[in-house]
Amino acid sequence: MTRVMKVAIIDDEQDMRASISQWLALSGFDTETFGSAEEALKGIGADYPGVVVSDIRMPGMDGMALLKRLMSLDSGLPVIMITGHGDVPMAVEAMRIGAFDFLEKPFNPDRMTELAKRATQQRRLTLDNRALRRELSDAGTLMQRLVGSSPAMERLREDILDLGQADGHVLIDGETGTGKTMVAHALHAVGPRAGRRFVSISCAAYSEDVLGRRLFGPDGETGQQPLVGEARGGTLCLEDIEALTPALQARLLTFINDQGSPPETRVVAICNDHAPDRTVEDALRPDLFYRLGAHKILLPPLRARGEDILTLFNRYAGQFAEEYGCDAPEIGAMEAAQLLQAPWPGNVRQLINIAERAVLQARRGAGSITSLVMADNEAAGPALTTEGKPLKEYVEAFERMLIDNCMRRHKGSIVAVMEELCLPRRTLNEKMAKYAMQRADYL
Ligand SMILES: Nc1ncnc2c1ncn2[C@@H]1O[C@H](COP(=O)(O)OP(=O)(O)OP(=O)(O)O)[C@@H](O)[C@H]1O
Ligand SMILES: [Mg+2]
Repeated sequence: MTRVMKVAIIDDEQDMRASISQWLALSGFDTETFGSAEEALKGIGADYPGVVVSDIRMPGMDGMALLKRLMSLDSGLPVIMITGHGDVPMAVEAMRIGAFDFLEKPFNPDRMTELAKRATQQRRLTLDNRALRRELSDAGTLMQRLVGSSPAMERLREDILDLGQADGHVLIDGETGTGKTMVAHALHAVGPRAGRRFVSISCAAYSEDVLGRRLFGPDGETGQQPLVGEARGGTLCLEDIEALTPALQARLLTFINDQGSPPETRVVAICNDHAPDRTVEDALRPDLFYRLGAHKILLPPLRARGEDILTLFNRYAGQFAEEYGCDAPEIGAMEAAQLLQAPWPGNVRQLINIAERAVLQARRGAGSITSLVMADNEAAGPALTTEGKPLKEYVEAFERMLIDNCMRRHKGSIVAVMEELCLPRRTLNEKMAKYAMQRADYL
């Protein structure tokens, strides 16, 4: 893909802007100029198809503040800073924030061209990689398997794509059944290690002795290669990391420290213990926690994913229906409300389980989804989560949804809705007024 790269030039001095722009234009760049940082921010965003050259000292927002803003918008954007003569601390600070390079005034124009060339080359690579990644995520299996479009899930997808490419180890945390193991696989699949081994072991499943030998060898009994060797160049996934004993934590730390940078083998640690008041940080020695937690992914609980709950239910119910050769059960307003408001302590895994049982029930022609959800969630605690909201709010949301659904089905026929919900006309009118519902919207 060859596209002409832009160079955005930001300088408060008109003459300076014009001369840099002219020089770079002569070298074949597509330039644009901005008289202030504020103005530049209106024209430059994430995925900007080019690079930035900015003066540091400007009235209003200065070059350093601009650099920080640009780095937070798109940390892969090359920004070349122009510093005053002898302004070394400033240049050092700019590089620390993430500048591509700096030029000291007065600068040699050829050096400017050369820098701009290198910066645009890198920019092109970055943008191509991003496009590839998007293609992968659009067409690829990852997005198909990871159901959900709630903001929490969209963020998770972004994180997976970003961290899949990043170096450093990853720590995954979240309630049971939220998809931690699935995400560990996804991280491996979208990154450069995809062709290498993904080796997984639970730190809670073995005694210290056996786990130590399985992980690091030597395994005299079986003569097997230790897992760190098997995973070499790929991903070593450590489930139940919180169960790792102090002695093995020390060995893991040594292994990690010997990896170099970027690490040859990536460690993805998963925390599965959620005893109240205890975090994975409490379970690990600080230096190990720091290394493992170079990147962290926290999976959102199912109850925080809103409508995704229904999408997930329909997706899995559909799959099971196909598997069992029957129709998927229909979910009405009542069932939807129940699904949306259950606490789901077992998260996605629990929901999949209920979807399967609902399909089996439907095949027999008996039972309701409602009773399944109620029974399953009641056994595990309170029937409805309140997430700190007053009960009244839930009751109202539920009532509103039921009336709305009913009005829709009966195309605004007040009489039919009164009958179905067993409501006197006056009460229905009052409720519709309370929820700002207009009959005309349903006709
Ligand atoms: N976003 C999602 N879309 C579709 N399926 C999902 C999603 N998240 C999880 N699942 C499915 O839910 C089940 C549980 O996921 P997974 O095993 O990854 O959870 P976990 O957090 O590792 O659970 P545990 O804490 O028990 O180890 C799996 O069958 C997985 O495929
Ligand atoms: Mg798991």
